[in-house]
Amino acid sequence: MSQFQKSKWAKAETAQAYVDHADIFIPERRRLYGVVKSYFEAFCTAGAVRALDLGCGDGALSRAIGGEDGRVSWVLLDGSESMLGKAQENFAGRVQVVHVSFQELISRQPDLGGFDFICSALAIHHLTWREKSVLFKYCHQALNPGGCLAVVDVVLAPAGGLEHWYLQRWRKWIEEKALAAGRENVFGNIPDTYKQGPENTPDTLAVQLAAMEEAGFAEVDVFYKQGIFSVFGGYKPKAGISRDEADAFPLGAYDPGL
Ligand SMILES: C[S@@+](CC[C@H](N)C(=O)[O-])C[C@H]1O[C@@H](n2cnc3c(N)ncnc32)[C@H](O)[C@@H]1O
Repeated sequence: MSQFQKSKWAKAETAQAYVDHADIFIPERRRLYGVVKSYFEAFCTAGAVRALDLGCGDGALSRAIGGEDGRVSWVLLDGSESMLGKAQENFAGRVQVVHVSFQELISRQPDLGGFDFICSALAIHHLTWREKSVLFKYCHQALNPGGCLAVVDVVLAPAGGLEHWYLQRWRKWIEEKALAAGRENVFGNIPDTYKQGPENTPDTLAVQLAAMEEAGFAEVDVFYKQGIFSVFGGYKPKAGISRDEADAFPLGAYDPGL
């Protein structure tokens, strides 16, 4: 099993560098989080929502989704103590933090209670394929019926040529971003270090969507994609009925206006 403590994310300086510059080198970072916020708002309509952010970092995704939304109680989980400290500061202490690695989470399964929404950004690709599939099963088990899972992550392209093109587009995005800001392009080699880094073990979208379905999720889909950066997820059905049959979108009420 992979070990968080041996990874570069265990170092406080890696955490700080990411927090300082992620908006520059992650293409459309805010849009990716915006898609998760939109999914959350469309499908998590209960009065009070308990939500979990896996690999929360400094809480960028959870803040973008509902940092100011008083009906959401956030539980933020990360293997990095220094990231959790930043997240707690950003939420002014109004969150529960859990200092545990994904590997410990899926092997020890600490009881964190049930959730209505689970999300994760740019973290799950650090797990091996087997660990990812077990984590999706954990998420399904931890969600209350009717709850949703949304993942933002880098994925492996299904063909080498596509992967090459996606990485080229990523390099170009960083270059243009640096140019627009009038800065030297010091982040230009990040797509190459991402590809070479042993801590990055992305899998294709197809196998991850299949693993979500195998874990029991319904309405599994890709919500947005820009090169290797993808937003995908699914829904835990309520006692075997689909969401269309439940109250979210009663089909009988649909008027196409023709
Ligand atoms: C690229 S950062 C993303 C942070 C945040 N989600 C965001 O979107 O800004 C990856 C995060 O995942 C955490 N992480 C990486 N591997 C992990 C693991 N095996 N267990 C728990 N957390 C992990 C890192 O500590 C870091 O906070």
